[in-house]
Amino acid sequence: MGGWAIAVHGGAGVDPNLPLQRQEDAKMLLTRCLDLGIHALRSNSSAIDVVELVVRELETDPLFNSGRGSALTEEGTVEMEASIMDGPKRRCGAVSGLTTVKNPISLARLVMDKSPHSYLAFSGAEKFAREQGVELECNDYFVTEENVGMLELAREANSIWLDYRVPTNEKCSASVETPLQMNGLPISVYAPETVGCVVVDSQGRCAAATSTGGLMNKKIGRIGDSPLIGSGTYACGVCGVSCTGEGEAIIRGTLAREVAAVMEYKGLGLQEAVNYVIEERLDEGKAGLIAVSSNGEVVCGFNTTGMFRGCATEDGFMEVGIWK
Ligand code: GLY
Repeated sequence: MGGWAIAVHGGAGVDPNLPLQRQEDAKMLLTRCLDLGIHALRSNSSAIDVVELVVRELETDPLFNSGRGSALTEEGTVEMEASIMDGPKRRCGAVSGLTTVKNPISLARLVMDKSPHSYLAFSGAEKFAREQGVELECNDYFVTEENVGMLELAREANSIWLDYRVPTNEKCSASVETPLQMNGLPISVYAPETVGCVVVDSQGRCAAATSTGGLMNKKIGRIGDSPLIGSGTYACGVCGVSCTGEGEAIIRGTLAREVAAVMEYKGLGLQEAVNYVIEERLDEGKAGLIAVSSNGEVVCGFNTTGMFRGCATEDGFMEVGIWK
């Protein structure tokens, strides 16, 4: 057993011109979340409790795209989604289409622990949230002024944005030499999105959690990779994985499960498995992931310009970064 390890992400696909202050704010938030997780792990919390705790913190801060500060749909509303998975017994819970739940990741946990199902969406998920008595918020809590402005820009450009952290249209077009497309529509890829956390605890139990508002200007009803077990999130006896990036590409590659599969069936180590999956299963420039193995390794991998990320291990290693 290699001791505990933790990794967090605040999204892949970072604008290379992202203002320095923004970069510093992101790194501070990631550091705070890592510290929170480390403290919980040192107090013997289980991997599943730690991933939920850390993702709740990320959802509550409006900096990244989840919970408060979620990206907006084409109609200016939020439709949040999340999933969580507990490796040892491969238990999981997922939610989509949330409009009032303050912490979607905790509702996903309740689906796993307190419902007979694995995945609840839209009105059914909201009804379950009310039954469970989770904290609810009105629309104004989730919709930030900045996101309203970004939605307007996205609409003007007839563009679906991975996120909304590119401050102006000019900056967006300056960063993208050949506009990238998703199913024929232009997208901006140089921005962060989605949050996630993976943990292996000192007993070698792995867990993973992912939460997002999805894409700016997305269609009503669009579901991305984040709530899909095996695509955006996966945990089992050998590893825990949380993905971030263009959901449609991650879904096509069943990215998170693929990391576990090549470890299980090809006998690869965690670093080799992550490299293999990014190389073989993911279109260039689309996404990234964080992963831990049951023997205490931690790996962050991505093929975008950057990925907001941080990781730490029991032996004192800690790192927070954005670029390659
Ligand atoms: N990876 C987040 C999304 O595409 O919704």
